[in-house]
Amino acid sequence: PYVVAQPCINCKHTDCVEVCPVDCFYEGPNFLAIHPDECIDCNACVPACPVEAIYADDELPEEWAHYTEWNAYLANQWQALGYNITEKKPELPDAETWASPPESETKNEE
Ligand code: SF4
Ligand code: F3S
Repeated sequence: PYVVAQPCINCKHTDCVEVCPVDCFYEGPNFLAIHPDECIDCNACVPACPVEAIYADDELPEEWAHYTEWNAYLANQWQALGYNITEKKPELPDAETWASPPESETKNEE
């Protein structure tokens, strides 16, 4: 399955939810999670996210490997609460401040 990683935290641009054909995004206060049992690996959400927060689980930058487990855990919790999200909403107010590339990318730029 695909996995939402750190750049989404405190951003929540939510463009991803509009393109997902199976509506498998679940929303928490400052983050979205993909339900691993529902994701069909279509890749549509990857280019939709303006901060490159979404990865195939086998392509996750190493420092974000734990997000696979977090997506599974959080998506289950939020699903139980009925927090499925399928329509875009405004990003969080401090989104720009929190957008963060993976460390590996930052290093490559040096
Ligand atoms: Fe949805 Fe496809 Fe992204 Fe999986 S890869 S979350 S099915 S848009
Ligand atoms: Fe998060 Fe990107 Fe979606 S910031 S809400 S994964 S479009």
